[in-house]
Amino acid sequence: MTALLEVSGLARQFRVRRGAWPFGRSATLHAVDGVSFEIEAGRTLGLVGESGCGKSTTARLVLGLTQASRGEVRIGGEKLPPTGSAPWRAMRQRMQMVYQDPLSALDRRVRVGRQVMEPLAIHGIGASGERREKAVAMMEAVGLAPHHFERFPHELSGGQRQRIVLARALIVDPQLLVCDEPISALDVSIQAQVVNLLLDLQARLGLAYLFISHDLRMVRQVSHEVAVMYLGRIVEQGDPDQLFATPAHPYTRALVSAIPVPNRGARRRLVLAGEPPNPVDRPAGCAFHPRCPFAVARCRAEIPELRTLADGRRAACHLVEELPQSWAA
Ligand SMILES: Nc1ncnc2c1ncn2[C@@H]1O[C@H](COP(=O)(O)OP(=O)(O)O)[C@@H](O)[C@H]1O
Ligand SMILES: [Mg+2]
Repeated sequence: MTALLEVSGLARQFRVRRGAWPFGRSATLHAVDGVSFEIEAGRTLGLVGESGCGKSTTARLVLGLTQASRGEVRIGGEKLPPTGSAPWRAMRQRMQMVYQDPLSALDRRVRVGRQVMEPLAIHGIGASGERREKAVAMMEAVGLAPHHFERFPHELSGGQRQRIVLARALIVDPQLLVCDEPISALDVSIQAQVVNLLLDLQARLGLAYLFISHDLRMVRQVSHEVAVMYLGRIVEQGDPDQLFATPAHPYTRALVSAIPVPNRGARRRLVLAGEPPNPVDRPAGCAFHPRCPFAVARCRAEIPELRTLADGRRAACHLVEELPQSWAA
């Protein structure tokens, strides 16, 4: 069976200027540098990593909102058509995006009910009378009442706005939802509600999610599989429980050790050595080597492939089999 979403060797580089104008030189920034993964219907892949590692660019590449420099995206076995083309617009119905900030995703001057209906008009689905009915039903499905239909975005709470964004994404019956930090802008008390709604919608509609977050605990809770990104590449991928209980890659170990642990008082944070990563100055060999306490000569020279380990997970580290089990896990 082919997976709903198949991503292979996806890469995107940007030309940027280095140094202050007018002395800056042009340089290449590898935002995403050869990323491959699959997501099946009804399943969630969690994508984690520090700010700037390429998560949002990956999301945009998957939807074709950013043109890939290399690689390929397939939805239901079909190759994603060129961005902006009519076949691409038709395919966009099958994949929707949920952004971090619901307020900027909504039009402040338009009543939210209209905004939920709008994608139906864009994709030419249903007659106008039916559209209103469908929008009210969809708003109900995400936990809003019919009287919310006539409200403006600023009259709703942050959680309600994100529900509107979800209703708007789901009204065209997509198969894949790409959620880029969907709860990061919400109050902590509301985050769990929206996560539960996402889980409930997935169970009811069989949606596939690409769930992006820097909140590892949230990712663990929602994901069937987790991929850890570092400077544009996936460095570890596997079962969430295994990955969080016994992280294999030194970078994953550092991330996991930084998760605040309840009942332990102070946060135990493993501070990584070296400079924070900069995708313009990607280190040779393993990009993580300047911050890795285990790095040897080989790590500075040779890029490690993402390979399957004996326990079934995948990691991109030359030394992973030789590392101490207990370090910072
Ligand atoms: N349009 C762009 N032009 C130049 N650089 C970009 C552009 N979009 C993203 N980048 C750079 O690519 C890298 C990855 O960005 P992004 O995908 O937004 O990371 P994340 O979502 O993980 O924080 C960053 O260094 C960012 O500055
Ligand atoms: Mg981002």
